[in-house]
Amino acid sequence: MSFLSPDSPPPKVELTVGEVAKRSGLAVSALHYYESRGLICSWRTGGNQRRYHRRVLRVLAMIKVAQRTGIDLDTIADALAELPADRIPSHTDWQRLSARWRKVLDARISALTALRDQLDSCIGCGCLSLADCPLRNPGDAIASEGPGAHFLDLNEIDEPR
Ligand code: FES
Repeated sequence: MSFLSPDSPPPKVELTVGEVAKRSGLAVSALHYYESRGLICSWRTGGNQRRYHRRVLRVLAMIKVAQRTGIDLDTIADALAELPADRIPSHTDWQRLSARWRKVLDARISALTALRDQLDSCIGCGCLSLADCPLRNPGDAIASEGPGAHFLDLNEIDEPR
């Protein structure tokens, strides 16, 4: 369904950095940062001013949602690089990206749940034992490094005079 009447002007395709900032709710500095990280792109006018295709608004919305869920910018950039550059990202594009990020979130939630459960056994304990504490030495990983002190900083030992 279109909200444009036949007499409406066509939607503005290219936007200034100020227009993008206003419509996306992001600071101009954030836009420049995203551009420096390769998440969005612009071109320059003859007067050396940045211009953005209006598709950038949808891309910025995707970036904001992904960041809110804790997805790092490199992962977001990799995903956005797969989007077609010649059109506004579609509902299907978003479904594909969000499904991938859901898997990342599920794995993170599982890891945090396991960590929380291990923390339950530590609450009120305070031993921080290398032998028994699941948070200090998960899976007794330090045992594989052999016997002896593994946390001794040799630089802190005074040389005999
Ligand atoms: S602090 Fe004692 S088991 Fe973790």
